[in-house]
Amino acid sequence: MNVQEIRKVAVIGTGVMGPDISLGFAMAGYEVTGVDIEANILDLAGKRISVNCQLLVDEGICSGTQAEEIKSRLSLTLDWDKVVAAADYITEAVPEDIDTVIKNGFGLRLSSVGPIQFVDMCGLDTILNIQKYMYGITKDPVYKPSRAIVELVDKGDLGVKTGQGFYDHSETASEKFGEQTNRAIMRMRKALKQV
Ligand SMILES: NC(=O)c1ccc[n+]([C@@H]2O[C@H](COP(=O)([O-])OP(=O)(O)OC[C@H]3O[C@@H](n4cnc5c(N)ncnc54)[C@H](O)[C@@H]3O)[C@@H](O)[C@H]2O)c1
Repeated sequence: MNVQEIRKVAVIGTGVMGPDISLGFAMAGYEVTGVDIEANILDLAGKRISVNCQLLVDEGICSGTQAEEIKSRLSLTLDWDKVVAAADYITEAVPEDIDTVIKNGFGLRLSSVGPIQFVDMCGLDTILNIQKYMYGITKDPVYKPSRAIVELVDKGDLGVKTGQGFYDHSETASEKFGEQTNRAIMRMRKALKQV
């Protein structure tokens, strides 16, 4: 199968990254199914996708009809085997050029939140895994896992996804926080396109 023939995409894991990756594929016209092993995470992913579709409409990035079409191409399930068997393409992350990722993702996000808020958004367990991995191969002290992050991860405080990290992200606060940062990113992207 070549790339042009891909229609159905499976996104494995719908935690921090999965919902937005799934939405990106659906916006690009693919039929997407997000798969997770935890029902409550799938519920949260569904809510986040709906909120983000509404933001796309509010910010004039697509029309209400287009948002409905995008949503109709997206589904979420716990049925791993069925989805994976039917998928033309299976992903855990989007393969993109690193400059594009930094400019349109990380860079915009970091400019709309502070660095500590940023690590709370990424997930402190993910940040700790990255620090351990990088320190293991480089022995560079800059990557030495920070005590503050280790302590929070040991307590199960993983950031926005658990409601508590360096900051308090109780349910409403976390949804509002996500909405505000996504809105800021959409506005920056629009402004950058006009320059
Ligand atoms: N969070 C970030 O900012 C970030 C940035 C770049 C890359 N990444 C990478 O992206 C990947 C996902 O990161 P994340 O932050 O979304 O993690 P996450 O912990 O928020 O989400 C992972 C999800 O995968 C689910 N899962 C685990 N095993 C599964 C299985 N067998 N089948 C289906 N679902 C399963 C979990 O239930 C969880 O919901 C990681 O490899 C991470 O290193 C994350």
